[in-house]
Parts: sequence; structure tokens; C-alpha cells
Amino acid sequence: MGSAALLVLAVLAVPRAAAAGGPEWRSLRGSWRLRSGNGSVSLRAEVPGCVHTALLRRGLIQDPYYRFNDVMYRWISLDNWTYSRTFKTPFDIRKWQKVNLVFEGVDTVAQILLNNVTVGRTDNMFNRYSFDITSVIKEVNFVEVRFLSAVSYAAEQSRCHKAYSIPPACPPPEQKGECHVNFIRKEQCSFSWDWGPSFPTQGIWKDVRIEAYDHYHLIYFSLTPFFVKSTQQWCLEIESVFEVVSSKPIPGRVMVNIPKLQTQQTFTVKLQPGEGSIVLLVNINKSSVVEAWWPNGHGKQTGYNMKTTFIMETGYQIEKFSKAYFRTVELVQEPIPGSPGLSFYFRINGRPIFLKGSNWIPADSFQDRVTYDTLRLLLKSAADANMNALRVWGGGVYEQDEFYDICDEIGIMIWQDFMFACALYPTDQNYLASVRAEVLHQVRRLKSHPSIILWSGNNENEAAISTNWFSIPHAERERYIRDYLMLYVKNIREIVLN
Ligand SMILES: *[C@@H]1O[C@H](CO)[C@@H](O)[C@H](O)[C@H]1NC(C)=O
Ligand SMILES: *[C@@H]1O[C@H](CO)[C@@H](O)[C@H](O)[C@H]1NC(C)=O
Ligand SMILES: *[C@@H]1O[C@H](CO)[C@@H](O)[C@H](O)[C@H]1NC(C)=O
Ligand SMILES: *[C@@H]1O[C@H](CO)[C@@H](O)[C@H](O)[C@H]1NC(C)=O
Repeated sequence: MGSAALLVLAVLAVPRAAAAGGPEWRSLRGSWRLRSGNGSVSLRAEVPGCVHTALLRRGLIQDPYYRFNDVMYRWISLDNWTYSRTFKTPFDIRKWQKVNLVFEGVDTVAQILLNNVTVGRTDNMFNRYSFDITSVIKEVNFVEVRFLSAVSYAAEQSRCHKAYSIPPACPPPEQKGECHVNFIRKEQCSFSWDWGPSFPTQGIWKDVRIEAYDHYHLIYFSLTPFFVKSTQQWCLEIESVFEVVSSKPIPGRVMVNIPKLQTQQTFTVKLQPGEGSIVLLVNINKSSVVEAWWPNGHGKQTGYNMKTTFIMETGYQIEKFSKAYFRTVELVQEPIPGSPGLSFYFRINGRPIFLKGSNWIPADSFQDRVTYDTLRLLLKSAADANMNALRVWGGGVYEQDEFYDICDEIGIMIWQDFMFACALYPTDQNYLASVRAEVLHQVRRLKSHPSIILWSGNNENEAAISTNWFSIPHAERERYIRDYLMLYVKNIREIVLN
């Protein structure tokens, strides 16, 4: 219930259009084979999922949360596991210009092989990976995801970073955790935290599928509302990110329709070859009364059904159904008479709102066990306790789409951290490139949600430098400040502001 009506992020090709050459895909969810590094353990495993839940489900381990089982089962995360399966291609592969193997989330370091050919590698749990398999796919296929232990990888990355150390090296010994988590783009608390055990698992933790298309393909679709004061009018910015496989630009039209707001607008567009985005500005009909989205306790969470149709001169037609929400956010930081500091509060739709909330950490050590019902119960409980805000903590994960859908629906404002916590981080080229891809993906995936009112760089990392948690000698401090600015200000902030 509910989620289906909210913003749909997958491409919705109408069946009629699909028959006329729309994209085709095949989910690779479901049953895979899982084997340990030397093959001594081999079992069936569900995807999405991870090694720990697969072992638990087959009765090969006990409840990982029981007593000291985190320590008992440390061997699991030190091994290098491989997921594999065979699958048939349900469509005629020769027909398509482009076929991709798409992973919405791989945890974390893996080599991906299709029919014994390496088609790509992954090193970031928070990124989305799309690998071109056009020349490798056959009628019957064998796909393998060969993981490297996240613990071994982090140790190796730290060893390779010779110029200077990036603290902390290891968590406090009583946590019985793993070292150098800041060298891997993986849920930071999975190497242990002061509140939680160490389970640095491996797995395909989100959806995986193959998709085939001609001409062009819509990858992201997002909405951002604005209120234009001078004209007293709501506007909606629509950003669509496409991959165009044709060698020539593709002209066409985009029709936007929000029936309840008597708003209908048509745009002429031209998609350029390669990956690119088009941005359209929809002016909401001034004679319609727009009901804004309000936080819990301040009003309703009204959203409007909206249909966007892409009609291009070559290729198929895309229809996207989404929910448009209207709200403004201002962070007010202004001098307070008689006080040395500045104010720090939010105005939503022009009204000052007191944020009442909590900190959100991952609901489970194993994300594949976090169901829609679990999220709904927890978030509804927060709303029922009169909370109107949650902060998604930087030591966990960017939450699944359903989490933000529910927050939109019940009026929970989200302070969204980027996933960096209680540590300093490297800024070498490969690391930055991986973070940049992660941030771009997450912002595009999540920015339509009215519940997200703020993006925050990290958890406590500035405090760690300014109050010298890691006993950095004074002479070396400048280097860590430079790294801090490089990562959060010059890279992450730049992408968010884009
Ligand atoms: C396979 O690896 C496991 C875990 O590292 C180890 O306990 C076991 O002895 C190994 N078995 C063989 C046959 O090498
Ligand atoms: C996992 O792979 C790494 C890198 O190849 C290797 O150093 C390590 O010994 C492997 N671990 C096990 C348990 O086989
Ligand atoms: C897979 O590739 C490896 C080397 O890349 C080769 O030694 C092996 O024979 C190949 N296996 C199959 C089944 O083609
Ligand atoms: C705005 O809505 C009115 C009906 O309330 C309609 O007559 C008018 O054509 C609409 N304007 C635009 C620009 O769509």
C-alpha cells in the first residue's frame, strides 16, 4: 500500500509501446549459488541478500546477534565469497543496440564476470553499477560476482596509502571490530561501533537485472519544487538523465500533466548522444490552489499525481507516473541580539518549525532483513510519538527508497548525512572518483523526496579535527584540514549544489 502511488523510479514503458520496441529487462533476483573461497562451503543464497543471512537461513550458523557470535563468526567476513548463477536471456539479444548488467547495490568489493569474461569491478556499496554486456551476453549465461573480503581490502588500501596515516586505524579493542573502515566505501558501522557488533558481510544487497534498449534510455527522473516570490507561482524543475546510444541527437517532445492543478505543458527537446540530462521548468497554473507538503503536526502531506510522457522521433515512448510535492525549505542563520552566535532553525513553506526528532541508525546489521513493514512500524512509531524529524546517520547506509516514501507520506523531515562518520578519510584520485559517483547517484535517486530537507557532509568529522580526537601533531594538522575541505567542500558540496 502507498508505495506504488509514490514516485516510480523505474522506467514505465506502456505495454503497447514495449511491443513496438521498448526496452526489455530481466530481473536476476532470486536464487543464486554461493561458495566460500576454497569451496568448502556451498549453498543456495537469495539475492538481494548477504552471506550471513544465507548461512543463517540454511541453518549453517546460529543467530549472529546471540552472545559472542559476532566473534565466533568472524571467519565469514575474512573469507572471499562468490555468488553465481545461470540465466536465460528472455529476448532476442541480436535485436538490441545496448544490453547492460545493472546492480543497484553490491556490498562491496567484487569482480563481475559474465560467461567467464570480466565485465566490471565494484568497490563502493553506495554506488549503482551498470556494465555494458552487449558483446558478451548469449542465450544462456553464467554470471559470477567474486567478492574480496572487505576486511582484507580495507587493510590493503591502508597499507598502500604510504604518504601519511589516516586515523583511526582500529576501533577500541572492546568492540572486537575490524580496522581501517575509512578506506572502504561500505556501511561504516559494519566494522563495529560503540553500540553495535562487527558484521562486515558480503553480498548483492539490492536489485540486479539485465536491461536491453535501442536509441535511448531514461536512467534518473527527479522533481524539485520552487516558489517564485516575484510572480507568486509554484514551479517544478524536472531533471531527466538519459543514456543515448544513437550516434545522432534525438529530437522529440515531453508532455507534462498534473490534472488536479490544471497544469499541462509541452516542451520540445533534443537528446544528445552519450549520457546527459535535460532540465524542464513547469509553471504551475496560477488559478489552481496548491496545497503544500507539511511536516507531521503542521498540516497535510499533499502530493499531486503527475504524468510525464517522452515522445521521441526515433524509438519508443516513455510514460512516467510520479507524485509531485510542493514545499520550500530555508535554513535561517542570522545574528541574535545579545548573543555571539547565529540562529539555526528551519522555515518550511515560510513557517518556522521546531525540529523534534531522533537519530536513525540502520534497522539491522543485515539490510536484506529490513522489510517495508519494519520501516513503516518504526517510522510510524516516531510520528506517533510526535516526532517530525529524523537524522539518517553517516555511519550507516543511504536508506532504501521505501524509507523516504514513508517519510514523505507521514511528514517526517530527514536530515540526510553522507556516509562518513567519526573518522578522517583519504582523498586520493580513485577514492574521490568513487565518492563522486556515489554522491551523484544518491542525490539523483533521492532529491525528489520532500522529506529530505538537508544534506549534511558527515557525522562528527569536523569535531574530530577541531578537538584533535586522534592526537595529530600540530605541524600535520593542516594536511588533514586540506583533506577535509577537499572531500566535503570541493567535491561533495559541489555535486549537491550542482
Ligand atoms: C577452506 O577455508 C576454510 C575457511 O578459511 C578453512 O577453515 C578450511 O580448512 C579450508 N578447507 C580446505 C580444504 O582448505
Ligand atoms: C582472500 O583473497 C585475498 C586476496 O587474494 C587473500 O589475500 C586472502 O588470503 C583470501 N582469504 C581467504 C580466507 O582465502
Ligand atoms: C575461463 O577463463 C580462464 C582464463 O581467463 C580460462 O583458463 C578458462 O578455461 C575459462 N573457462 C571456461 C569455462 O571457458
Ligand atoms: C489554468 O486553469 C484554468 C482552469 O481553472 C484553465 O482555464 C486555463 O487554461 C489554465 N491555464 C493554463 C496555462 O493551462
